[in-house]
Amino acid sequence: PEAITVQELANRMAEKGADLVKALFNMGMMVTVNQSIDADTAELLVEEFGHNLQRVSESDVDIDASVDVDPEETLQSRPPVVTIMGHVDHGKTSLLDALRGTDVVKGEAGGITQHIGAYQITTKDKQKLTFLDTPGHAAFTQMRARGANVTDIVVLVVAADDGIMPQTIEAIHHTKAAGVPMIVAITKSDKPEANPQKIRERLLEHEVIVEDMSGDVQDVEVSAKTGAGLDELIEKILLQAELMDLKARYDRDAEATVIEAKLDKGRGPVATVLVTRGTLKRGDTFVVGTESGRVRALVDDKGKQVKDAGPSVPVEVLGLGGVPQAGDVLTVVENEQRAREVAEYRQQQATAKRTATVAPNLEAMFAGLK
Ligand code: GTP
Ligand code: MG
Repeated sequence: PEAITVQELANRMAEKGADLVKALFNMGMMVTVNQSIDADTAELLVEEFGHNLQRVSESDVDIDASVDVDPEETLQSRPPVVTIMGHVDHGKTSLLDALRGTDVVKGEAGGITQHIGAYQITTKDKQKLTFLDTPGHAAFTQMRARGANVTDIVVLVVAADDGIMPQTIEAIHHTKAAGVPMIVAITKSDKPEANPQKIRERLLEHEVIVEDMSGDVQDVEVSAKTGAGLDELIEKILLQAELMDLKARYDRDAEATVIEAKLDKGRGPVATVLVTRGTLKRGDTFVVGTESGRVRALVDDKGKQVKDAGPSVPVEVLGLGGVPQAGDVLTVVENEQRAREVAEYRQQQATAKRTATVAPNLEAMFAGLK
């Protein structure tokens, strides 16, 4: 039996993960975007959405539309990818910093920690968790819109001394639409004016029912200031991750999603990617969005050069031909010629798509002139 996650399949078909979840629900299956489905179910879905089933090896150039699934027996568990969301000033960055402080594999003393928008921590019992540091949730929305949601679990941050605010509600909507499980972290619980119970009650109005209110959403009171609740939060994330049975194949050519990308003065185009399957190695040839390149260096979240990066590992990639976009998928291909071919093909596709979306508007304009 072969397996693919709903999100991976959605990415390959360029459909929304939530739409696949809906279709599966109509087929009588309750799954989230991060769960795996077998090849038969995948095939049904592919047909349902009117796509052709193509294997990478047989496909011409369009590796995007191909459905290439890893056999179940090749899959191994991978760390959960956790995104922290919430209203401005509710303590997202502070919580991320505090969580990072619990990492037992800290960078060398005195070393400069690089901010790459994503990092991984290792707990005392050697469990790994990847956190995405998306300031605000513009990035999350953008990635979701592109069908490249890499988030397994959302931690919704709500300040105990404030309440449910517009961006809290937005975050709830995004999370639900993406079909991602949520854990509520009630932050700033150390403050004298903190009222966590009020938060739990208010969340009901937005159909977020925490365990205390006899729902099934986990919640935990935390303080980035005192460190209270951090271990409990990590435990709850790991418990949720265990339920999801997150897996990926390690020993294959890598696929990764761009978290952020920029043009660095000294280093040229740099992309922070999160590996979704396989192992990305120095020297690999790849295509990412409409760009191609060859991995010149990989830099981890501690600013250290590494030789490779496996599933759920965030790394900076150097050696790109240009700056890709957040949400773009990086795929390792066999050689540079193929990388250029695919990049070119995608550029044509992108141009064709732009023309196609312009056409109806022109039609509408002319219709008005008749
Ligand atoms: P934006 O990125 O601007 O949306 O804010 P944020 O959600 O990242 O909040 P940030 O972590 O910057 O914290 C906002 C303010 O709240 C800062 O002044 C923090 O010191 C304070 N703060 C955050 N967490 C705690 C906490 O647990 N306890 C207390 N007392 N203050 C906190
Ligand atoms: Mg912040």
